[in-house]
Amino acid sequence: MIIRNVELETVCGVTSRLPENTLPEFAFAGKSNVGKSSLINALMNRKALARTSAQPGKTQTINFYNINKELYYVDLPGYGYAKVSQTEKEKWGKMIENYLHKSKMLKCVFLLVDIRHEPSANDRTMYEWVVYNGFRPVIIATKLDKINRSQIQKQVKLIRNGLGMEKDDVIIPFSAASKQGREEIWALIGKMAAG
Ligand code: GTP
Ligand code: MG
Repeated sequence: MIIRNVELETVCGVTSRLPENTLPEFAFAGKSNVGKSSLINALMNRKALARTSAQPGKTQTINFYNINKELYYVDLPGYGYAKVSQTEKEKWGKMIENYLHKSKMLKCVFLLVDIRHEPSANDRTMYEWVVYNGFRPVIIATKLDKINRSQIQKQVKLIRNGLGMEKDDVIIPFSAASKQGREEIWALIGKMAAG
């Protein structure tokens, strides 16, 4: 995908009204610190337009990045961040749910999980919720650079089983460090944006 123009167009907090966009949207969900913002930067060919942090809980708003005036990448706040209060968690949960429910232009939800770990109960809930809402989630197994090549297949299987993925569901190992997996994700997005 050739990136000619990117812009952080809309930032939504818990009380904001969601935009009624007319271009296809691609959302990135997953637990705090899994690498959503880092993946979005890689897909935008930018180093730090989406703010990232080693501390979980960096993204606390829904951020809409307009790509080439053709489509949007939607950076969601992470779930499962231990340090926020229950009330805060519920607010974020509602906000994400509301977005996934209401967006008319959402084409695909990419669910990110760390390739090193078995999916958590929250990951499973998110996966099931996405399926329940009629989307086929695409799983991105992040931080690929943190494991040996010999471990990849085993970890992919662990994630497939842990989420209860359907046989036809796609899982793409990805590294924001090496950019491995990026072409495959771009290709999928290109296809879904067109169709
Ligand atoms: P929240 O906004 O808190 O929900 O987190 P996030 O999912 O947006 O994660 P973010 O992109 O901020 O990345 C969290 C940390 O993981 C940062 O320190 C990143 O540099 C690091 N990270 C993300 N992706 C990768 C990767 O593929 N490889 C390695 N080695 N580190 C990564
Ligand atoms: Mg983030």
